[in-house]
Amino acid sequence: MRILGIETSCDETAAAIVEDGQKLLSNTVASSVDLHAAFGGVVPEIAARSHLEVITPVIEEAAKSAKVDWPDIDAIAVTQGPGLSGSLLIGVLTARTLAIAKKLPLYSINHLEAHVYANFITTSALPGYALPAKQPSFPLLALIVSGGHTQLVLFRDHFDYTVLGQTLDDAVGEAFDKVAKILGLPFPGGPSVAKAAVKGDPTSVKLPKPRFSVTGQTSHTAKSQFDFSYSGLKTAVLRAAQEMAGQDYTFPSHQLSKVLKTVQKQDLAASFQATAVGMLIDRLKAAAVEFKPRSIVIAGGVAANQHLREAADKLSPAPIYTDTRLCTDNAAMVAALGYYTASRQRPAADPYTLEIAPDLQM
Ligand code: KG4
Ligand code: ZN
Repeated sequence: MRILGIETSCDETAAAIVEDGQKLLSNTVASSVDLHAAFGGVVPEIAARSHLEVITPVIEEAAKSAKVDWPDIDAIAVTQGPGLSGSLLIGVLTARTLAIAKKLPLYSINHLEAHVYANFITTSALPGYALPAKQPSFPLLALIVSGGHTQLVLFRDHFDYTVLGQTLDDAVGEAFDKVAKILGLPFPGGPSVAKAAVKGDPTSVKLPKPRFSVTGQTSHTAKSQFDFSYSGLKTAVLRAAQEMAGQDYTFPSHQLSKVLKTVQKQDLAASFQATAVGMLIDRLKAAAVEFKPRSIVIAGGVAANQHLREAADKLSPAPIYTDTRLCTDNAAMVAALGYYTASRQRPAADPYTLEIAPDLQM
């Protein structure tokens, strides 16, 4: 079964064709990231316009590089949410139109679940992918870390899962992006902070690492010991940066990057990264001890972080899955989950009525 996946939840316009949920035939991604760089963050209107401009050539390119034509495609899978409304609309309306015109079944996909399914892709003739030798097995512990989400999820089987914990405020990727802004590092922030951190001393700045107990002793809002919190850490980096610059808390954050020395930025980046990743690893380790998973998947854009991957490999109570090419937004993960949705006889979407779901959760 060959599925065409379409993904437009944020600033990447992506189309891919995946066979039987595991063989990657093509993976086309056009990013509008350069257009957002001048604004230091994704501008929803620019993202939507860019999707509209490139979605057709992106789908054509995905078909061409997979060497398939419409008769070879069995279904379409599209990201329904969560994401930016204007962006989601372009992907969903395109998928609905194609499903009607080509008389193909249409499957609506949750972007967060799809991030996990990137790790079910094990073969490809395309160069440059470090794909796993075999698919992850259940029970599967998934750490989903992206620009908008941070959650720990236990999958007992396909479509049978429990969210163990999630962020109470900012997502970890968002914290990377905000710290990059404080340090005056280029957008997107995650890779910039990671790069600056390489030369910094991760022990140089003491930063708080919130810990939640189930009884709520250390936080009145935490529901679970597996919950996360990143807004305090981001503020702590700001205060430390102001102090390093010899200023008080009233000093404007947008002027800090001009007065901080390169080495101070590197130390702040390294200390932030160590603390942010440490929080992820603590929860992952505790959940692995409690639930004894047979595999661990680290999914979402922040999974590209080398420090996180190395730290996870070290604790490794179960095989760890994560591919740097497929952890950031793409449509292969959408097509892979589309296959399991179709093959497990889950209901197809109505192409005449399918709506976007910007706030969709797991
Ligand atoms: O999954 P993704 O591509 O898009 C969302 O669904 O949000 O994740 C994007 C996030 C951004 O916050 C970006 O800064 C972060 O992933 N990111 C990283 C790295 N590469 C991307 N964070 C830390 N280290 C990286 N190397
Ligand atoms: Zn994503």
